[in-house]
Amino acid sequence: MFHPFHVEQFLSELENGVKYNYSESGVHPMTLKELVELTGMDPDALWATMLDYPQVNGFTLMRERIAALYEGATSDNVLVTAGATEANTLVANTLLEPGDSMVAFRPIYEQLTGDVKNRGIDVKYVDMDPLNDWKIDAQAVSDTVDATTKVIHVINPNNPTGRVLSIEERRGIIAAAAKVGAWIVSDEVYAGTERDTDETTKSMWGDYDRVVVLNSMSKAYGLPGLRLGWLVAPKAEVRACWRRHEYASVAASMLSMKLAEAALEERARKALVERARRLIRTGFETLTEALQVHPGVFSVSPPHASAMSFIRFKLPVDSETLALKLHREQDVLVIPGSRFDVENHFRFSSALPDAHLREGLRRMNLVVGEMLETV
Ligand SMILES: Cc1ncc(COP(=O)(O)O)c(C=O)c1O
Repeated sequence: MFHPFHVEQFLSELENGVKYNYSESGVHPMTLKELVELTGMDPDALWATMLDYPQVNGFTLMRERIAALYEGATSDNVLVTAGATEANTLVANTLLEPGDSMVAFRPIYEQLTGDVKNRGIDVKYVDMDPLNDWKIDAQAVSDTVDATTKVIHVINPNNPTGRVLSIEERRGIIAAAAKVGAWIVSDEVYAGTERDTDETTKSMWGDYDRVVVLNSMSKAYGLPGLRLGWLVAPKAEVRACWRRHEYASVAASMLSMKLAEAALEERARKALVERARRLIRTGFETLTEALQVHPGVFSVSPPHASAMSFIRFKLPVDSETLALKLHREQDVLVIPGSRFDVENHFRFSSALPDAHLREGLRRMNLVVGEMLETV
């Protein structure tokens, strides 16, 4: 039976036209003009772009710039895709066959897990501990892998919790993968969005020989509209994914490649990451203040990274009812925890312009206040 992508379905059905949207996972996106100015691109060169098919595996210079972010990688280890979304699909298509299984960690953004389930492949979950800062029990990972485990899938930093794996957790996951010869597919789209440190989350690339890493321009760089991502893998797997990319999309778009190539030049890239972290840090402070307006209602394990907080609430409604009420009564959109299989939580994105963020939080607290009065 078809497994829908619960989070994306909720978003695509409700987010268009909503006034106070806190359901996205990235930072406030940039305009084309802001990006052109930040990168110092010549606008005339952009006008002169020939809207032909671009290089199918991605411009060479862009792949070199991406490879430079992964120790020991070269441009031959990189395939440029239409967002990390396509990269996830290619990986599912390339690494997993009928009879294989995959291990993943819950709560999870189910892009890879859902896709894999729709291919008839079994997904086994290890639950992160909600009462212990969403930690992962290394023993549970080791106990869950078996001879059928072909992939262990991590999202690091995690969506929806914003948690970054500790060194011990990484070691545990690598040991479990090595025990059965599984691949680690590491979705690192939130690397660079660290809230509590200036250190970028260390990639899994280079820690183990069977690693595929995914990333994109959507989160740390604030450019989701480019729909441009990549995967980094051993050369044979890059070639295998490339063959499937020719079916899936042929190539990312010409304009996106031009813009992403400029954005990935080191000076511009660092400026984009700094912008994202600034928005994330101030946004989280504003959110934290607002969550204290009604004491005892909200609690959150502060995210190590990302614009998102996965907020626990104590109210006499389930998460879907709360989210739909906020949407209907106050034009505010958050994602209910149910879409991640976790009740009494919602996901809230706060790396947004200050006045817009404050108004939505005021509206949210208004609804909560009314609910508390009727309890
Ligand atoms: C963990 C994770 N992976 C992949 C994606 C998709 O990213 P992209 O915009 O690059 O397709 C998202 C988007 O929310 C995400 O949260």
